Amino acid sequence: MTDQAQAPEDLFPGKPTSASRTTLSHIMTAAETNLLGTVHGGVIMKLVDDAAGAVAGRHSGGPAVTASMDEMVFLEPVQVGDLVHVKAQCNWTGRSSMEIGVRVLAERWNESTPAQQVGSAYLVFAAVDADGKTRPVPPVIPETERDRRRYQEAQIRRTHRLARRRAIKELRDRRAAEGLND
Ligand SMILES: CC(C)(COP(=O)(O)OP(=O)(O)OC[C@H]1O[C@@H](n2cnc3c(N)ncnc32)[C@H](O)[C@@H]1OP(=O)(O)O)[C@@H](O)C(=O)NCCC(=O)NCCS
Repeated sequence: MTDQAQAPEDLFPGKPTSASRTTLSHIMTAAETNLLGTVHGGVIMKLVDDAAGAVAGRHSGGPAVTASMDEMVFLEPVQVGDLVHVKAQCNWTGRSSMEIGVRVLAERWNESTPAQQVGSAYLVFAAVDADGKTRPVPPVIPETERDRRRYQEAQIRRTHRLARRRAIKELRDRRAAEGLND
């Protein structure tokens, strides 16, 4: 034992992006279709949330909850018999939150054609303790140029999310102060 104080980075070192990057794969069946016969968007969103949750748990080393999901884009319909790969990585970290970027790819389960991107999303997870209170996460360390670009883009999204939340709160407070109830 030593009486010298440890530097914060020794107590809480960063984690490289590759340490928590995850792919979740699933073959789509007829049980997962919408009324048009293609795969229901909600099924894809669940896979996205599951894959992102695995990344958040791995990066933060414990439980993490979905705080938000935004920019969920469906580029192409997913068909029964598609083998879907949901690729997720930690793009950015704050104090207790992490932005997880997700790309959804699909290929025919029995054909060796290249997988096509069918969707993408960004999710914010907050790391929590056993009481549901937020806890700090290790800073993510981007490793490649692509990781560094994603980190910078995530910071832009973070700034916009906070600004939008603040602006809406201010508007609501102002309306409430004017006695406008809805
Ligand atoms: C997410 C949750 C833990 C945030 O708790 P809170 O008391 O508001 O905590 P804070 O305001 O300190 O926010 C914690 C972090 O999450 C971020 N955050 C909170 N709400 C957010 C939102 N809607 N969008 C983006 N980020 C958000 C904050 O910016 C903060 O980031 P930082 O610590 O890196 O700076 C809380 O709202 C919660 O438990 N929500 C339910 C989550 C859940 O059950 N998800 C599954 C849905 S079924």
